[in-house]
Amino acid sequence: MALPSSPPTPDGATAQPDPGTAPLATAQAQLARAVEILGYDHDLHEVLATPRRELRVAVPLRRDDGRVRVFTGYRVQHNISRGPGKGGLRYAAGVDIDEVRALAMWMTWKCAVVDVPYGGAKGGVTIDPHAHSAAELERVTRRYTSEIMPMIGPERDIMAPDIGTNEQTMAWVMDTYSVNQGFTIPAVTTGKPLAVGGSLGRPTATSQGVVHTARAALRADGVELSEVSAAVQGFGKVGSHTARLLHEAGTRVVAVSDEHGGVRRDDGLDVPALLEHVAGTGSVTGFADADPLTNTDLLALDVDLLVPAAVEGVLDGTTAANVKARWVVEGANGPTTSEGDRILAERGIVVVPDILANAGGVVVSYFEWVQANQAYWWTEGEIAERLEQRMLASHAAVSALARAESVTLREAAMTIGVRRVAEAHLIRGLYP
Ligand SMILES: NC(=O)c1ccc[n+]([C@@H]2O[C@H](COP(=O)([O-])OP(=O)(O)OC[C@H]3O[C@@H](n4cnc5c(N)ncnc54)[C@H](O)[C@@H]3O)[C@@H](O)[C@H]2O)c1
Repeated sequence: MALPSSPPTPDGATAQPDPGTAPLATAQAQLARAVEILGYDHDLHEVLATPRRELRVAVPLRRDDGRVRVFTGYRVQHNISRGPGKGGLRYAAGVDIDEVRALAMWMTWKCAVVDVPYGGAKGGVTIDPHAHSAAELERVTRRYTSEIMPMIGPERDIMAPDIGTNEQTMAWVMDTYSVNQGFTIPAVTTGKPLAVGGSLGRPTATSQGVVHTARAALRADGVELSEVSAAVQGFGKVGSHTARLLHEAGTRVVAVSDEHGGVRRDDGLDVPALLEHVAGTGSVTGFADADPLTNTDLLALDVDLLVPAAVEGVLDGTTAANVKARWVVEGANGPTTSEGDRILAERGIVVVPDILANAGGVVVSYFEWVQANQAYWWTEGEIAERLEQRMLASHAAVSALARAESVTLREAAMTIGVRRVAEAHLIRGLYP
């Protein structure tokens, strides 16, 4: 039987225009390489490559003006051998089943790399959140939650924010789930507001993890964050806090961008002032004391550290050839295509892969879930310390394997993640 390099799409989801650079192709190629390194056979590869469960739902929305529109939502559990599914919920106009499959697969390996007891899952609704009022987004969220209800739960599949969703979205999901069960169940989502069982440190956890791994990667080369310049693509939940934390660590942040464009200042952006500008205007563009630049130009800037923290596939065969940074630390999921990865590796650029670099979010999501299950809350200091310790230990294990086997950090991280999942699968055995 042919390997599911691109699993079947019986639901007729929109095909990606370029299958070579589509997120699912990238995710499947990364898995294939790990399987090759690990020497697994075709049968195990097929088990690891195939999502366990997928649900596609219609999400009818009564708009504020009374008209009705129907959106499409998905939830994919890629693998649940190591524990319940865990993964974000994305609201974006381009969401399709293959993107959700790729993101769910990356969650599987990510949870295994940082050794949290979860499988990998992801959800999405094909909707542009900027085109809807808060009331409409609440109705979409509640209907989507209600439609996927049989799949989720604190022991089944736990949601978190991703692109286009936030703490409020997670509160609506938690409330809808809880009301239907008849009692409050905070552990069905993470990334919630503190008032309903969120965790201290969760809003900045992904970015903290990016900065911990960036610091570790630089130190491996004898360099400190305070000695380098950086550019950050994406100024949302991950990118904005990453830029701020880098700025606080003494890094000269020379450029940032969002979907509207970017800004650049070679002697360093005033990141706190930029955060205020974004709070007021909704975009980094138009920030005083900085020059405009495009997202493509940002990737090619002459900086030491590049943090893609927006969307998938931005570092492809063309843009990767222009990267001048010495270190690329992936805040986003899947920002580098297979061809982009090959080019960066050939050029000796260190890439700290997404499944390690941005795992701080799922680590503190795990802490939030543990706290919710125990109904006992940790201090900010305890969370920060445990996050740092886990990120640095994971980075050290990945780096050691990369050195020992002469492979890239991505190959090493994938090898560790895939091996842990395969071990769990093999020990459990195949039912029936
Ligand atoms: N939120 C988390 O905890 C978390 C954890 C791990 C990984 N991630 C990943 O990080 C990335 C960003 O997620 P987020 O939660 O910050 O989302 P977000 O919606 O808060 O922010 C996304 C940012 O990217 C920008 N953007 C969107 N499309 C763009 C484009 N084509 N070019 C440039 N910029 C663009 C947006 O304007 C915004 O600034 C995603 O890949 C997500 O899967 C998020």
